[in-house]
Amino acid sequence: MKVTIIGQGYVGLTIASFAAESYPVIGFDSNEQIVRQLNQGISHIEGVESSQIKKMISQGRYRATSKGGDIADSDIVVIAVPTPLTDNRKPDLRFIEAACKTVGENIKRKVLVINESTSFPGTVRNYIKPTIEKFSTSPIEHDYAISPERVDPGRTDFNQKNTPRLFAGLTKEATERTRDFYSKFCDNLVEVSSPEVAEAAKLFENTFRQVNIALVNEFAQITHALGISVYETLDAANTKPYGFMKFTPSAGVGGHCIPVDPTYLAAIAEEHGAPATFIRIANEVNLEMSRYVVRRVAADHGGSIRGKSVLVVGVAYKPDVADVRETAAELVIKHLRDAGAVVSWHDDVVAEWKGEKSSPLGGADIALVVTKHSSVGAKKILASAPYVFDTTGKVPGAKGF
Ligand SMILES: NC(=O)c1ccc[n+]([C@@H]2O[C@H](COP(=O)([O-])OP(=O)(O)OC[C@H]3O[C@@H](n4cnc5c(N)ncnc54)[C@H](O)[C@@H]3O)[C@@H](O)[C@H]2O)c1
Repeated sequence: MKVTIIGQGYVGLTIASFAAESYPVIGFDSNEQIVRQLNQGISHIEGVESSQIKKMISQGRYRATSKGGDIADSDIVVIAVPTPLTDNRKPDLRFIEAACKTVGENIKRKVLVINESTSFPGTVRNYIKPTIEKFSTSPIEHDYAISPERVDPGRTDFNQKNTPRLFAGLTKEATERTRDFYSKFCDNLVEVSSPEVAEAAKLFENTFRQVNIALVNEFAQITHALGISVYETLDAANTKPYGFMKFTPSAGVGGHCIPVDPTYLAAIAEEHGAPATFIRIANEVNLEMSRYVVRRVAADHGGSIRGKSVLVVGVAYKPDVADVRETAAELVIKHLRDAGAVVSWHDDVVAEWKGEKSSPLGGADIALVVTKHSSVGAKKILASAPYVFDTTGKVPGAKGF
């Protein structure tokens, strides 16, 4: 049983590292530099160690490639490519289309195609299957299934083995083959009645987070106006043993999932004439947080930070990862610069971003903490500037929500 995984990023490489324990795996990626690095045993993803890749390669269980011809004799193809938004914030399926083209043009016998990329309900049935068939040179009826990925980069308590995995095929055979594939490295497989249910569940999971984060972000503004601590209030509410789940405020949401996936749900809702009011409002509230934070800092400086030096501490979208996709730090920096501040940033995990290098901690008039990596001590941050505003709630003694 030969497995190809299209896309060797956070999702694809993580899956490859687990699948390679049971199957020979080809990691197909269109980025030749990533392919070169992977074949040298160098990982570019947190949670997948370079030593693991070297071991997989030396045991003949893994190889990366950019050549379509190398995947011709696969039995299973997993698609794990980006599903971003277009400039006008609509689902952008061009990476999925390119992956389908690779499958269609290169696979000449019946395979099982499993999509792990996050997309709206109907993607496997109404987009992936017809697109692969469009690019196929022979009329093959492949098997198709979805198993949405739930990986949380940087997390160690939940992984591919112990995170329950939803799945469903377009046919009974596809469903059974999908169960068989994942059962080698996942303990808890949850079959649902259709691919659309699995696709919708994945979007709802992330929309649930997006809406609750927006709610707590708005609540932080209310508690500040009331002169009470948001953290103490949340801890108090969290003593209720049922019906409450604690979320904490932030400078906004980042990453490839929470700011993006709900918009996929909103788009399909709109197409079907159903409302997506919460999603739209939650998006607005979360985006607005960066401006609110900058306003709060300015308010503590007599209403203006013009000419002040500001060091943004932590630009990754969350702690202990180097991922800056959709990071709230970007909007925070923009609003600070619009307000006339002289902005630099410190993040040794990210190290380099947009052609700028991480600045040392210290030396600025203001430190504004957007993300706190565990490698940076709270005391060190507090001592790094005469005024520190912390959006994470992890720097005791700093100003904050
Ligand atoms: N990162 C996460 O935490 C996470 C969690 C759950 C689900 N997802 C979903 O999984 C999917 C992949 O996300 P990711 O974080 O792994 O993205 P990523 O950007 O880390 O990796 C995607 C990889 O695909 C490659 N690629 C792009 N187009 C390709 C093509 N046509 N052929 C071959 N390779 C191609 C890129 O070079 C890149 O290496 C997305 O739909 C995302 O929403 C991500």
